[in-house]
Amino acid sequence: MNLNPASHININVNSTTKSSDPAPQALSPFAIDIRKGLWARPKKIPSKYFYDEIGSKLFQDIMNLDEYYLTDCEYEVLDLNKSQILDHCQRTGGFDIIELGAGDGYKTKVLLRHFLEAGADFTYRPVDISTEAIDGLVNTLQQEIPDLQVNAIVDDYFQALNNLKAEDAKRTRVVLFLGSNVGNLKFVEVVNFLEKLKAGMKQGDLLLTGFDLRKDPDMILAAYNDSKGVTAQFNLNLLNRMNRELGAEFDLSTFKHYPFYDAINGEARSCLVSKVKQSVYIAALDDTVDFEVAEIIKTEVSRKYFPGQVEALASRTGFSTVAHLFDAKKHFLDALWSA
Ligand SMILES: C[S@@+](CC[C@H](N)C(=O)[O-])C[C@H]1O[C@@H](n2cnc3c(N)ncnc32)[C@H](O)[C@@H]1O
Repeated sequence: MNLNPASHININVNSTTKSSDPAPQALSPFAIDIRKGLWARPKKIPSKYFYDEIGSKLFQDIMNLDEYYLTDCEYEVLDLNKSQILDHCQRTGGFDIIELGAGDGYKTKVLLRHFLEAGADFTYRPVDISTEAIDGLVNTLQQEIPDLQVNAIVDDYFQALNNLKAEDAKRTRVVLFLGSNVGNLKFVEVVNFLEKLKAGMKQGDLLLTGFDLRKDPDMILAAYNDSKGVTAQFNLNLLNRMNRELGAEFDLSTFKHYPFYDAINGEARSCLVSKVKQSVYIAALDDTVDFEVAEIIKTEVSRKYFPGQVEALASRTGFSTVAHLFDAKKHFLDALWSA
């Protein structure tokens, strides 16, 4: 479905991922995941549900926080290495970029602008589960880089992987998986994801993935526990989203944002903790979920890597490492792999 009149930009919405317009009596995908997650032990909510309209805006605020070093570090990686990245992308001529979980594309635009200025022949296909993120990205691309060929897609990137395999791609495809996207997957999920991705790529296609590296544990924890409380709002917005979309009756003042970093396994985790014993009605499920005092809901994991673990992940999933690209302080790594 082309929702955009601009000549270079299309937006496609994969109807299987939309939570609106369910069949009569059918539960939305969000409601199904909440029923599964809040009745599990420990309770959990998939982090992809952070990104409704309010969550996507809050994430942009997070990226501007002093404590959230990840954005500046990866921006620097891409800026320092954009010519080298382009050389690899256009080794066989024209190429097509597919970005999974594109968000607002702030860092990707460093590459897109450079590639256009260098006269490269390429297209850009951002995929994001959030309609608001894709709409915002398309608007800014129209204004800032109007000559870019864009085919934007609202979809779950796990679904987008299936489409990669089905495509009859003639040119090199360059898949971008930037920011903390890979970090949000558990180790077993990362391996499954990369193996599936590899199966959908043809020989010579490239993958550029962002890995936040191990560093001072206090610096890592501060990125998820900022002094202005924006990350707390972002986390608590999940409860708001359930109130808005599922008719839930969460009282936000009875939950707190609780992040912690385990420097042994490199996992930064965000949780919501119930301050009281309570029961919360969720109209869409016509059911009530019970919380003990101090019971948690797991909402996000952000895994931090050593460069050696990134290398091992490439071999384990059948990719070859083309380059490891760093910022000046070596806080962040973008790994360029070839299928
Ligand atoms: C942490 S942000 C990173 C955005 C961007 N890649 C960056 O580095 O700034 C994660 C983005 O991935 C999207 N996302 C999360 N889970 C997704 C999924 N399963 N499928 C597609 N997009 C997803 C979110 O909507 C959000 O825009």
